[in-house]
Amino acid sequence: MTVERYGEEVALRPAHPRPAHPRPAHPRPAHYETADVRIDKIVVGPFENNAFVVRCKRRGEAVLIDAANEHELLIPLCQQVGVTQVLTTHGHWDHVQAVAAAREVGIDVGISAGDADMLDSYDFVIDDESVVAIGDLRLRTIHNPGHTPGSMSFRLEGHPVVFTGDTLFPGGPGNTSAHEQASFETIIDSIDRRLFVLPAETLVMPGHGLDTTVATERPHIQEWVDRGW
Ligand SMILES: [Fe+2]
Repeated sequence: MTVERYGEEVALRPAHPRPAHPRPAHPRPAHYETADVRIDKIVVGPFENNAFVVRCKRRGEAVLIDAANEHELLIPLCQQVGVTQVLTTHGHWDHVQAVAAAREVGIDVGISAGDADMLDSYDFVIDDESVVAIGDLRLRTIHNPGHTPGSMSFRLEGHPVVFTGDTLFPGGPGNTSAHEQASFETIIDSIDRRLFVLPAETLVMPGHGLDTTVATERPHIQEWVDRGW
Protein backbone atom coordinates (compact mmCIF):
# COMPACT_ATOMS: atom_id res chain seq x y z
CA MET A 1 0.00 0.00 0.00
CA THR A 2 1.30 3.50 -0.78
CA VAL A 3 0.07 6.98 -0.01
CA GLU A 4 1.12 10.25 -1.55
CA ARG A 5 2.61 12.67 0.94
CA TYR A 6 3.97 16.07 -0.09
CA GLY A 7 4.08 14.87 -3.70
CA GLU A 8 6.15 11.73 -3.07
CA GLU A 9 4.91 8.20 -2.65
CA VAL A 10 5.48 6.67 0.77
CA ALA A 11 5.10 2.94 1.40
CA LEU A 12 2.78 2.07 4.29
CA ARG A 13 3.20 -1.07 6.29
CA PRO A 14 0.20 -2.43 8.16
CA ALA A 15 0.58 -1.80 11.89
CA HIS A 16 -0.56 -5.35 12.66
CA PRO A 17 0.43 -7.81 9.95
CA ARG A 18 -2.17 -10.49 9.31
CA PRO A 19 -1.29 -13.86 10.85
CA ALA A 20 -0.57 -16.59 8.30
CA HIS A 21 -3.41 -18.66 9.77
CA PRO A 22 -6.37 -16.49 10.67
CA ARG A 23 -7.68 -17.04 14.17
CA PRO A 24 -11.33 -17.93 14.64
CA ALA A 25 -13.48 -14.84 15.17
CA HIS A 26 -14.29 -14.07 18.78
CA PRO A 27 -17.96 -14.64 19.52
CA ARG A 28 -19.93 -11.42 19.46
CA PRO A 29 -21.05 -10.34 22.94
CA ALA A 30 -24.80 -10.52 23.47
CA HIS A 31 -26.75 -7.28 23.82
CA TYR A 32 -28.79 -8.93 26.61
CA GLU A 33 -28.51 -12.46 27.89
CA THR A 34 -29.88 -14.66 30.65
CA ALA A 35 -30.17 -18.42 31.09
CA ASP A 36 -33.13 -18.64 28.70
CA VAL A 37 -32.79 -15.76 26.21
CA ARG A 38 -30.13 -14.13 24.11
CA ILE A 39 -30.71 -10.82 22.32
CA ASP A 40 -28.30 -9.65 19.64
CA LYS A 41 -28.38 -6.12 18.26
CA ILE A 42 -27.16 -5.52 14.72
CA VAL A 43 -26.92 -1.96 13.42
CA VAL A 44 -27.60 -1.74 9.68
CA GLY A 45 -28.13 0.67 6.83
CA PRO A 46 -27.59 4.39 6.22
CA PHE A 47 -29.91 5.38 9.09
CA GLU A 48 -28.20 3.03 11.54
CA ASN A 49 -31.31 0.96 12.19
CA ASN A 50 -31.27 -1.49 15.05
CA ALA A 51 -32.23 -5.02 14.11
CA PHE A 52 -32.65 -7.39 17.07
CA VAL A 53 -32.45 -11.17 17.07
CA VAL A 54 -34.33 -12.64 20.06
CA ARG A 55 -33.46 -16.28 20.62
CA CYS A 56 -34.81 -18.95 22.96
CA LYS A 57 -31.65 -20.68 24.17
CA ARG A 58 -33.49 -23.81 25.27
CA ARG A 59 -35.29 -24.53 21.98
CA GLY A 60 -33.00 -22.75 19.52
CA GLU A 61 -35.84 -20.77 17.94
CA ALA A 62 -35.50 -17.09 17.14
CA VAL A 63 -37.22 -14.02 15.66
CA LEU A 64 -35.79 -10.95 13.99
CA ILE A 65 -37.26 -7.61 14.95
CA ASP A 66 -37.09 -5.44 11.79
CA ALA A 67 -35.54 -6.83 8.63
CA ALA A 68 -34.23 -3.32 8.28
CA ASN A 69 -31.39 -3.38 5.76
CA GLU A 70 -28.08 -5.04 4.74
CA HIS A 71 -29.78 -8.34 3.86
CA GLU A 72 -26.41 -9.85 2.90
CA LEU A 73 -25.41 -9.53 6.57
CA LEU A 74 -28.77 -10.10 8.29
CA ILE A 75 -30.12 -13.08 6.39
CA PRO A 76 -27.15 -15.46 6.84
CA LEU A 77 -27.08 -14.53 10.53
CA CYS A 78 -30.81 -15.28 10.81
CA GLN A 79 -30.29 -18.64 9.12
CA GLN A 80 -27.42 -19.50 11.48
CA VAL A 81 -29.41 -18.87 14.65
CA GLY A 82 -32.78 -20.31 13.66
CA VAL A 83 -34.86 -17.22 12.87
CA THR A 84 -38.26 -18.28 11.47
CA GLN A 85 -40.15 -14.96 11.64
CA VAL A 86 -39.63 -11.24 11.24
CA LEU A 87 -41.68 -8.89 13.41
CA THR A 88 -41.86 -5.42 11.86
CA THR A 89 -42.11 -2.46 14.23
CA HIS A 90 -43.53 -0.25 11.46
CA GLY A 91 -43.53 0.09 7.72
CA HIS A 92 -41.12 2.96 7.16
CA TRP A 93 -38.59 2.49 4.37
CA ASP A 94 -35.54 2.17 6.60
CA HIS A 95 -37.07 -0.66 8.68
CA VAL A 96 -38.08 -2.99 5.83
CA GLN A 97 -35.29 -3.07 3.23
CA ALA A 98 -34.43 -6.73 3.96
CA VAL A 99 -38.03 -7.99 3.99
CA ALA A 100 -37.95 -9.37 0.43
CA ALA A 101 -34.66 -11.20 1.05
CA ALA A 102 -36.02 -12.70 4.29
CA ARG A 103 -39.17 -13.98 2.53
CA GLU A 104 -37.06 -15.40 -0.28
CA VAL A 105 -35.33 -17.77 2.15
CA GLY A 106 -38.60 -18.81 3.79
CA ILE A 107 -38.62 -16.51 6.82
CA ASP A 108 -42.19 -15.29 7.42
CA VAL A 109 -42.63 -11.54 7.76
CA GLY A 110 -45.32 -9.96 9.91
CA ILE A 111 -46.57 -6.38 10.05
CA SER A 112 -49.58 -4.70 11.68
CA ALA A 113 -52.73 -4.07 9.65
CA GLY A 114 -52.25 -0.31 10.05
CA ASP A 115 -48.89 -0.34 8.25
CA ALA A 116 -49.41 -3.33 5.94
CA ASP A 117 -49.95 -1.13 2.87
CA MET A 118 -46.33 0.08 3.22
CA LEU A 119 -45.03 -3.39 2.28
CA ASP A 120 -45.25 -4.99 -1.16
CA SER A 121 -45.75 -8.39 0.43
CA TYR A 122 -45.83 -10.04 3.85
CA ASP A 123 -46.92 -13.31 5.43
CA PHE A 124 -48.99 -12.48 8.50
CA VAL A 125 -50.67 -9.60 10.30
CA ILE A 126 -49.59 -8.68 13.82
CA ASP A 127 -52.56 -7.82 16.05
CA ASP A 128 -52.53 -5.74 19.22
CA GLU A 129 -52.20 -7.65 22.51
CA SER A 130 -51.29 -10.88 20.79
CA VAL A 131 -48.54 -13.27 21.83
CA VAL A 132 -45.73 -14.44 19.58
CA ALA A 133 -44.11 -17.67 20.73
CA ILE A 134 -40.38 -18.20 20.15
CA GLY A 135 -39.64 -21.60 21.63
CA ASP A 136 -40.31 -21.08 25.34
CA LEU A 137 -40.24 -17.29 25.04
CA ARG A 138 -43.26 -15.05 24.58
CA LEU A 139 -43.33 -11.62 22.96
CA ARG A 140 -46.48 -9.63 23.69
CA THR A 141 -47.52 -7.06 21.09
CA ILE A 142 -48.37 -3.46 21.96
CA HIS A 143 -50.03 -1.22 19.37
CA ASN A 144 -48.36 2.20 19.68
CA PRO A 145 -49.83 4.45 16.95
CA GLY A 146 -48.49 7.96 16.41
CA HIS A 147 -45.24 7.66 14.46
CA THR A 148 -47.20 5.55 11.97
CA PRO A 149 -50.80 4.33 12.28
CA GLY A 150 -49.70 0.74 12.85
CA SER A 151 -46.49 1.10 14.90
CA MET A 152 -46.00 -1.88 17.22
CA SER A 153 -43.82 -2.49 20.26
CA PHE A 154 -42.92 -5.95 21.53
CA ARG A 155 -42.50 -6.79 25.21
CA LEU A 156 -40.54 -9.86 26.18
CA GLU A 157 -42.51 -11.61 28.92
CA GLY A 158 -40.59 -12.46 32.07
CA HIS A 159 -37.80 -10.05 31.18
CA PRO A 160 -37.46 -6.29 31.64
CA VAL A 161 -37.27 -5.68 27.88
CA VAL A 162 -39.47 -3.87 25.35
CA PHE A 163 -38.65 -3.19 21.70
CA THR A 164 -40.17 0.14 20.72
CA GLY A 165 -39.24 0.74 17.08
CA ASP A 166 -39.56 4.47 16.35
CA THR A 167 -42.15 5.10 19.09
CA LEU A 168 -39.91 5.79 22.10
CA PHE A 169 -36.24 6.81 22.20
CA PRO A 170 -33.89 8.15 24.85
CA GLY A 171 -35.13 11.73 25.24
CA GLY A 172 -38.58 11.47 23.76
CA PRO A 173 -41.04 10.09 21.22
CA GLY A 174 -40.30 9.29 17.60
CA ASN A 175 -40.71 11.91 14.92
CA THR A 176 -44.27 12.96 14.15
CA SER A 177 -43.52 16.05 12.05
CA ALA A 178 -42.20 14.50 8.85
CA HIS A 179 -44.98 12.09 7.96
CA GLU A 180 -48.51 12.75 6.80
CA GLN A 181 -50.16 10.07 8.93
CA ALA A 182 -48.16 10.81 12.10
CA SER A 183 -49.72 12.41 15.17
CA PHE A 184 -47.92 13.89 18.17
CA GLU A 185 -51.01 13.71 20.43
CA THR A 186 -51.49 10.06 19.50
CA ILE A 187 -47.88 9.03 20.13
CA ILE A 188 -47.82 10.76 23.53
CA ASP A 189 -51.09 9.11 24.52
CA SER A 190 -49.92 5.69 23.38
CA ILE A 191 -46.54 5.98 25.14
CA ASP A 192 -48.26 7.12 28.33
CA ARG A 193 -50.96 4.44 28.38
CA ARG A 194 -49.10 1.45 26.93
CA LEU A 195 -45.36 1.88 27.64
CA PHE A 196 -45.08 4.00 30.78
CA VAL A 197 -47.26 1.47 32.63
CA LEU A 198 -44.44 -1.08 32.32
CA PRO A 199 -42.14 -1.63 35.32
CA ALA A 200 -39.63 1.17 35.89
CA GLU A 201 -36.61 -1.05 35.26
CA THR A 202 -37.86 -2.07 31.79
CA LEU A 203 -35.13 -1.69 29.19
CA VAL A 204 -36.38 0.20 26.14
CA MET A 205 -34.67 -0.99 22.97
CA PRO A 206 -35.53 1.45 20.17
CA GLY A 207 -35.25 1.21 16.39
CA HIS A 208 -32.21 3.48 16.27
CA GLY A 209 -29.55 4.38 18.81
CA LEU A 210 -29.05 3.35 22.39
CA ASP A 211 -31.27 1.69 24.99
CA THR A 212 -32.97 3.61 27.74
CA THR A 213 -35.37 2.62 30.54
CA VAL A 214 -38.94 3.44 31.50
CA ALA A 215 -37.63 4.98 34.72
CA THR A 216 -35.35 7.33 32.79
CA GLU A 217 -37.97 8.56 30.31
CA ARG A 218 -41.24 8.53 32.26
CA PRO A 219 -40.59 11.65 34.37
CA HIS A 220 -40.11 13.77 31.21
CA ILE A 221 -43.38 13.25 29.39
CA GLN A 222 -44.80 16.65 30.40
CA GLU A 223 -41.62 18.35 29.07
CA TRP A 224 -42.18 16.63 25.73
CA VAL A 225 -45.81 17.74 25.63
CA ASP A 226 -44.80 21.33 26.48
CA ARG A 227 -42.10 21.49 23.80
CA GLY A 228 -44.42 19.84 21.26
CA TRP A 229 -42.11 17.10 19.90
FE1 LIG B 1 -39.85 5.39 11.30
